[in-house]
Amino acid sequence: MKALSITYEQYDTAQDLRKDIQSLALKAQEAAEKAYAPYSKFHVGCAISLENGTIVTGNNQENVAYPSGLCAERVAIFSASATLPGEKIKSIFIRAFSKKFMVNQPISPCGSCRQVLLEYQMLQKDQPIPIYMQGASGPILMINDIRDLLPFCFFEEKLNEGEMIKAEENSPLTL
Ligand code: THU
Repeated sequence: MKALSITYEQYDTAQDLRKDIQSLALKAQEAAEKAYAPYSKFHVGCAISLENGTIVTGNNQENVAYPSGLCAERVAIFSASATLPGEKIKSIFIRAFSKKFMVNQPISPCGSCRQVLLEYQMLQKDQPIPIYMQGASGPILMINDIRDLLPFCFFEEKLNEGEMIKAEENSPLTL
């Protein structure tokens, strides 16, 4: 048997956070307020601070054809990469609230967003990106590294590792 464990930080209020992270939280909140979420009424905002001092934000964008919508995290990180490609990401703040019920626990990124966040962390030589998460109220959680949310993750080396297969071999699968 083997086990994996992660560590994370918990803050009771925003006042316990560093000042720059408090500003990032505010940007995430403002982004959440502007989300386009007429179907779920669940608003998510994501603020990303970059090495050059820029803060890029995003929010969830829904669609009447539900799967065509996109989460706040991907809207934000794609926007950052589209406008400032290659600029390192320092930290991320995610906030959420619902127009239907009280969100008093942090929400964490969905599986697809975790995979996308990992891609950009790998691009910056795997320099970890701390991710802060908070609901409409309640505690703030911080994980130090997206890998902590994605154990046994799939990344580029997995596409290339191992021995090359000779062209004449039909299938490398063994029974
Ligand atoms: N959503 C996000 O934007 N980020 C998350 O981490 C989880 C879910 C959005 C997608 C959809 O618009 C709404 O929240 C309900 O799932």
